[in-house]
Amino acid sequence: MRTDSSSIKSLTLALGVLFLGAFLNGEGTLAAAKVFNPADQPIRFTVLYDNYLYKEGTKPDWGFSCLIEGTEKTILFDTGTQPQILMHNVEVLGVDLKKVDQIVISHDHGDHTGGLPAVLEKNPNVTVFFPISFPGEFGRRVEGLKAKAQSVDKSIEICRNVYLTGEMGDEIKEQSLIIDTAKGLIIVTGCSHQGILNILKRAKEILDKPIYLVFGGFHLGNKSDAEMQEILAGFRKLKVEKCGATHCTGDTQIAMFKKAFGENYVPMGTGRVIEVPVF
Ligand SMILES: [Fe+2]
Ligand SMILES: [Fe+2]
Repeated sequence: MRTDSSSIKSLTLALGVLFLGAFLNGEGTLAAAKVFNPADQPIRFTVLYDNYLYKEGTKPDWGFSCLIEGTEKTILFDTGTQPQILMHNVEVLGVDLKKVDQIVISHDHGDHTGGLPAVLEKNPNVTVFFPISFPGEFGRRVEGLKAKAQSVDKSIEICRNVYLTGEMGDEIKEQSLIIDTAKGLIIVTGCSHQGILNILKRAKEILDKPIYLVFGGFHLGNKSDAEMQEILAGFRKLKVEKCGATHCTGDTQIAMFKKAFGENYVPMGTGRVIEVPVF
């Protein structure tokens, strides 16, 4: 290998360009402090609202809400039913709602939308994503509270590696959230009125990757044992690795998921924190 001064100079120059390139963003401006480095932190889910209690001191109530941190943007998925209970749990869990950048509303049921005005009062600097068939009044109310309203029709990427399924379902329109991680897809559901298996299939259509974890409400309280066996077979066929069934899934049905997943079952409830290492 030549070690004369000109080759050392070119090597130094190349390293310099590489180093500078690493600190430049797409627009070519210096943004070292703002560069999102997913390897820095795990993705962290905190259940803020749920029918079941996980951590003493939090309050359970019918509804669902989950904070997602460690993704490019901090996301609040659904907002529970009663603002007072949501805010109680937020306080007990030491959550700073001012850090939320995006709010995803799964569907237009009060146990998912109830806390939204209270959250926007505390932090209007957010974009609220909701299914396109919501009444127009919903978006106007969000904008009236000084936040940005964005209706969702088809699947979109709302920030790096985080996708929405787009609006699904017949009678009750609903969307779910998908995070593309190195471990596989993580799917968060509200009530799954569009069908939990339909959500899993849609997620795979969008990203064509293994499903690592799915959690949230699965809305299966009216399903018979035989129907549940079919659903569990669907989970197996789709090779879902871990699952946390909660909210409106149904007590008997939750027990069936626990049994079927064994050590890969992820217990849920208010105050539950799930950390997934890195993208
Ligand atoms: Fe619900
Ligand atoms: Fe619902």
